[in-house]
Amino acid sequence: MRHIPFLLAEVLEFMNPSPGECFVDCTLGAGAGHSQAIARALGTQGRLVGIDLDSGAIQSAREILKSFNTPVHLKRGNFADIQTILASVGIHEADGILADLGFSSDQMDQDSRGFSFASEAKLDMRLDPDSQDPSALDLLNTLEESQLADLFWKYGEERLSRRIARAVVREREQGRITTCTELASLVEKVYPRGPHRIHPSTRVFMALRIAVNHELENLERFLPQALSLLRISGRLGVITYHSMEAALVKRFFRRFAGQCICPPGMPVCGCGAIEQGQILTGSKAIVPSASEKDRNPRSRSAQLRVIRKIR
Ligand SMILES: C[S@@+](CC[C@H](N)C(=O)[O-])C[C@H]1O[C@@H](n2cnc3c(N)ncnc32)[C@H](O)[C@@H]1O
Repeated sequence: MRHIPFLLAEVLEFMNPSPGECFVDCTLGAGAGHSQAIARALGTQGRLVGIDLDSGAIQSAREILKSFNTPVHLKRGNFADIQTILASVGIHEADGILADLGFSSDQMDQDSRGFSFASEAKLDMRLDPDSQDPSALDLLNTLEESQLADLFWKYGEERLSRRIARAVVREREQGRITTCTELASLVEKVYPRGPHRIHPSTRVFMALRIAVNHELENLERFLPQALSLLRISGRLGVITYHSMEAALVKRFFRRFAGQCICPPGMPVCGCGAIEQGQILTGSKAIVPSASEKDRNPRSRSAQLRVIRKIR
């Protein structure tokens, strides 16, 4: 299934790409859904930079964006290196920067990538398939039981984390976990029978993907660079899908908007919040409408936050 961009109308409304501006889409995706709409709005005098870790996404986006007359630079890389990537194409300031985190339906549906619990492929989950970093299977085979439990709990909020970690260790001693379906059926066996709102292995798969791709660390490195690259009046938009990502963006934006993020009860503010931006999306994130969620259930956890640099 081709990836359908989430919160597209809202991204355009709050980020307001306008003719002649320079925008960076840090998570292009194979369908380049947000990028297409942004390119259309920037027009022939604008400039669009698209970044993605996945070479397949870059190739496919190149084909799609060919038909637009907006000057486009597509760079394969990690948005955690946004400053270096932009400098490599001579860009030191931008009017808009968008990051739509996580993975796309195109990646999910490529069986060989090992993102889906219905896949017979080896558990891989690397967003950059050429990366030499450990795959999901490497983590499952090398982490200790307590480390696996912590990973499932921390990134997946998986309440049965300890029991699942124990089952993984027992099973790997027999050499019986290699594929996505094998892990999915192991998790299913740990869960009590009964109807489940989501597949019982959803949280374990999400936790592994986040750990394999260092997703929170990348976001943490990206945010300060992105804000420093914005021109005055430039907008940074981030779409998150996980509570830890959302909390990170929220804290970061609040501090940049001059709102103290010190723990309650601190006698003096120590977080150093200085008003440099205005949160355009307000105190609550923008979430998909009921009709978007019906049309595209994968959008259900998306949250959009946009901040504008004011000084
Ligand atoms: C949700 S999809 C983006 C979909 C896209 N916005 C669209 O409209 O089609 C996320 C994309 O971000 C890429 N990605 C995730 N983390 C990345 C990172 N740290 N650096 C660059 N790209 C990343 C993934 O490979 C994937 O293609």
